[in-house]
Amino acid sequence: MPDAGASKLVEFTVVVVLVPPNRAAHENELRAITRDPNVMKWVANGQVWSEAKLQRFFQYCEEEEHQGPSERKNYYHAVTVNGTCVGVVGIHPVRYDPGSTTLSALTIFLSSGILGRGVGTRVVQAALQAYDAIYPDIGVVIDIRASNSPMKRVAEKVGFVHTKSLEISGRDYCRYERPRLSTVDRL
Ligand SMILES: CC(C)(COP(=O)(O)OP(=O)(O)OC[C@H]1O[C@@H](n2cnc3c(N)ncnc32)[C@H](O)[C@@H]1OP(=O)(O)O)[C@@H](O)C(=O)NCCC(=O)NCCS
Repeated sequence: MPDAGASKLVEFTVVVVLVPPNRAAHENELRAITRDPNVMKWVANGQVWSEAKLQRFFQYCEEEEHQGPSERKNYYHAVTVNGTCVGVVGIHPVRYDPGSTTLSALTIFLSSGILGRGVGTRVVQAALQAYDAIYPDIGVVIDIRASNSPMKRVAEKVGFVHTKSLEISGRDYCRYERPRLSTVDRL
């Protein structure tokens, strides 16, 4: 006798894809996410984005898409889950500390509607993989607010280690770094 409850089960696959940010495809979703204070309080200066900032972001991404690796200052991706835009991940080549070799910083923010389902971890892994294909073996850093436990957990899950505590604009941060492959080889 088949279980009557079985027909109520619905299986679905969560398909996470990184694509170039595109105004026509992603504007409405990204406007809602970047205006959510509960998401943006963890990102950069902790402020929600103005409309002007959102428009500058799309313009910037569209310009950079046509640039070669040596010209680009950011590698941003829009994150889609089953076709719906749920956030942004970006890697930025920067000279992080005076006198240091070039490192890159990683930024991510996702809609509060999909948190805790493993999407953030998959997205960071995929962004690093895409970046490594262009810049092999460049160190990557994430400065995470000390109270941002989910992001610290994501960083640890993808192999970053907590290297120091620091204060930025009066707030406590933890710096997480991904060991370079060449460093690992030398150990
Ligand atoms: C941080 C962020 C990207 C994580 O995305 P996500 O899809 O929720 O991440 P995942 O589901 O892959 O993993 C989250 C982990 O944190 C854990 N976690 C969630 N809340 C937690 C809490 N309060 N304390 C400790 N761990 C917590 C989850 O259990 C999970 O770990 P597990 O797999 O070991 O169980 C997402 O929350 C986000 O966009 N936040 C707002 C912006 C932000 O913080 N950006 C980072 C700026 S540096």
